[in-house]
Amino acid sequence: MNLQLTDEQNMMRKMVRDFAANGVQPEVARMEQEDRFPTEIIRKMGDLGLMGIPIPETYNGSGMDYTAYIIAINELSKVSATLGVILSVHTSVGTNPILYFGNDDQKTNYLPKLATGEYLGAFALTEPGAGSDAANIRTKAVKDEDHYILNGSKVFITNGGQADTYITFARTGDEQGAKGVSAFIVEKDTPGLVIGKSERKMGLHGSSTVQLNFDNCTVPKSQLLGEEGNGFKIAMANLNVGRIGIAAQALGIAEAALEHATAYAKEREQFGKPIAANQGIAFKLADMATEVEAAKLLVYQAAALVEQGSPSSKEASMAKMYASKTARKTAIEAVQIYGGYGYTEDYPLERFFRDAKVTEIYEGTNEIQHKVIAKNLLDPKK
Ligand code: CAA
Repeated sequence: MNLQLTDEQNMMRKMVRDFAANGVQPEVARMEQEDRFPTEIIRKMGDLGLMGIPIPETYNGSGMDYTAYIIAINELSKVSATLGVILSVHTSVGTNPILYFGNDDQKTNYLPKLATGEYLGAFALTEPGAGSDAANIRTKAVKDEDHYILNGSKVFITNGGQADTYITFARTGDEQGAKGVSAFIVEKDTPGLVIGKSERKMGLHGSSTVQLNFDNCTVPKSQLLGEEGNGFKIAMANLNVGRIGIAAQALGIAEAALEHATAYAKEREQFGKPIAANQGIAFKLADMATEVEAAKLLVYQAAALVEQGSPSSKEASMAKMYASKTARKTAIEAVQIYGGYGYTEDYPLERFFRDAKVTEIYEGTNEIQHKVIAKNLLDPKK
């Protein structure tokens, strides 16, 4: 595929690279040590138009294409995978469902606030008993005059402790499986919505991951997103783009690990020569660079398909599966090249490894990505 970027896309890369170097890098150590949500950085991202890159200008978004959006996640994640996931979840699954499935009132009410970063978006699908088997959620929404009353709980909700709106999935009616699921826009101050335990994670320090409890949570009928019973399709359709965002995040981590490892291998001397002079190290770097390049092609190809409006679920899953595996492998090899130093917190390599691991887990485990790819291959009509 042709990876030539437009002037606009190149400008986006340069702008985010500068912002990441000057506005994010100086805060990374503090975010890491204090596990503090980067509210101030997100406000600046809003000012730069980064919180609504693919949202049309009519709704105060930047009105740019999906490749520009993917570039932003890719570049931010080279410096901070935490900011990469915050942006990806906010946009792909926190805002896009309203853009694509909302009615005019919902679009007018929420998109301008989300696109400028005044509001932060989250996506509440996963439950204690329904992770990979997302169609099996148990949270119930019962219609009561002008409201739906929601009861149930959600887990691992990214941006959850800080979000203003939650695209929430709950079961309406008696139908089992995917057909009984509906989507709602739930505002943070809705009575009965309780923010639960905040997870302490291996990586992505500074990002918020919480449990949510819906305890007779009273959501006005006007907050139903799309039609009743159409919620699972809304979740899946937006997870397609979400998975490309996570793939771009993983790519960013892999590129950063490769860049550090290459520089270190040329500089670090043992036995009177740089360690890169040994084939054991040079060939390792060659493998890492090849895999990173392959991941990049898959990620940008998937983004281009979304932009063209072509089917992209197989390619999104391929990009997510391959880029996340590459991030984990590249980060581990980079730690190895750094030796003992790579295992310390004085260098970012151990952070790259801890941050990379989750990209193989969230927005559909890599086992689920295999399932999606296989289904597309074997039964392409569905
Ligand atoms: N786009 C549109 N519709 C889709 C779709 C897609 N990509 N995938 C499935 N559907 C539709 C199907 O066409 C089907 O509709 P019909 O009944 O009309 O034919 C319906 O949805 C049900 O599809 P399946 O029969 O394929 O459903 P399934 O129960 O077998 O499950 C699955 C499919 C792919 C395993 C799905 O459950 C899945 O993706 N699981 C993983 C869940 C996941 O990714 N969770 C992420 C949570 S969010 C997160 O992680 C954010 C974060 O923190 C970073």
